[in-house]
Formats: sequence, C-alpha cells, structure tokens
Amino acid sequence: MSNCNNGNIPKTKISVAIDGPSGAGKSTVARLAAKKLGFLYVDTGAMYRALTLEALKNGVDLYDEQRMTKLAQKSKITLDPDENNFLRVFVNGEDVTDKIRQPEVSRSVSYTARLPKVREYMVSQQRLMAKHGRIVMEGRDIGTVVLPNAEVKVFLTASQPTRARRRQRQLANENVYVNLEQLNQEIATRDYLDSSRITAPLVPAQDAKVIDSSSLSVEQVVELIVKKVKLYGKQSFR
Ligand code: DC
Repeated sequence: MSNCNNGNIPKTKISVAIDGPSGAGKSTVARLAAKKLGFLYVDTGAMYRALTLEALKNGVDLYDEQRMTKLAQKSKITLDPDENNFLRVFVNGEDVTDKIRQPEVSRSVSYTARLPKVREYMVSQQRLMAKHGRIVMEGRDIGTVVLPNAEVKVFLTASQPTRARRRQRQLANENVYVNLEQLNQEIATRDYLDSSRITAPLVPAQDAKVIDSSSLSVEQVVELIVKKVKLYGKQSFR
C-alpha cells in the first residue's frame, strides 16, 4: 500500500519548518515549496510585522511588553493566500500587505519580536495553524520553538551581500527603493538583534538541514525541500 498520491506527495501529517536570516530567500522558497506540495504556507515574519504596524499606528511603545501583548491578543491578524500562494495580510479586516514592508516597520519589527510574552502569544497562534500538518511555516524559531517536532527542518542562509542584493530587488518589485549600503546596515543590525535576543534567538535547530543558497537557484532549493518531504513520506510508512 502506498502512502503517496500520484504526485508522490505524502498524505501523512507533515510539517515543514524553514528558518534563517532575513534576505536568505525563505519567503519565495517556502511559498513555492508549499504550492508544489499542496500545503498551507505561513509567513510568521508577516505576523510580527503586522503587529508592529498596528503598534506604530496606535502609538504603542514597542518596549512596553504588557501593552504590546494586549495589542497582539486583540488584533486579528490573518494571512490569505492567492492562487500563487502570495499572502495578503490583514489586521482587523484591513489589508496591510504593502504597509508591513515599509522601511519604518522593517526597522522596528525586531523590537516587537524581542518581547517574550508577545512571542508566547504568536507561537500559540502559529501552533494552532499547524495543528493538522500539511504546512510550510517560515520564520526564525519554527524548527526550534514553534514546531520542534516538524518532520522536515531547513535552515536557509546566504552570504550577507547576497541577502542585501536580494532584499533590494524584492523591495524594488514592491516599489520600495532603498540603497544597498543602507540595506546592508539594516540586515546586519537585524541579524544581530535576532541572533542575540534571549527568547528564541535565530539559531539552526540541531536536526535542521542547513542550506546555503548563495549559489543555488530558487528552483534548486525548492526541489531540495520537496524531495526531503517526499522522502520522509516514503520512510514513515516502511
Ligand atoms: O522574515 P521577516 O524579515 O519578515 O521577519 C520580520 C522580523 O520578525 C525579523 O526581525 C525577525 C522576526 N521574526 C521572528 O523573530 N520570529 C519569527 N518566527 C519570524 C520573524
């Protein structure tokens, strides 16, 4: 008996965790891998961004953990995929997809993401989304904290200049123009803040496959991930 459908996509409850620093290509790769697998795609960074935007809008101090946690609890953040798995992000029904990519949010989001109680709440929401498996979730702490039992874990990275160039291209596609030097600086700062924070720092899970995408195409990385999922599906029913 086979546990796979015709496309060899496993039917078992599989979760894929993709972590890594900003600009490593996680979003593109996770979106396309999920599409190929027919899995749900969740961009957890978008959730932290949406909350940051809401805080800036309401004048909530990003250092005030209690108010930020309350704001997280009362803000309904939803991710709605289109037919190509691009996510539209809503906060309390308002479409904030473009706004959460603005430089002001990018500069501020690490402060939101440092707050342990905010993370606790976000993690609980993310676990609910992953309850039924068949999900590709990307972020910084998915393989280590959110889904430590994920069947497939990938830590996707790339050199810093590569990441800055990619980010510049991605932002230009969204009509946001930022010079490379500024991006390099912002990425270095964000890497530092994300890796040095006490709660859920950015580190590869011990059982994650580390992939350096500097000299790989998007398709190559997607293929590697899809292969790992199919392999897991085969092994789990032997
Ligand atoms: O992936 P991104 O650049 O959109 O993430 C935005 C910020 O949120 C970034 O500073 C890292 C943080 N983040 C996090 O701490 N944990 C996650 N699971 C996802 C993102």
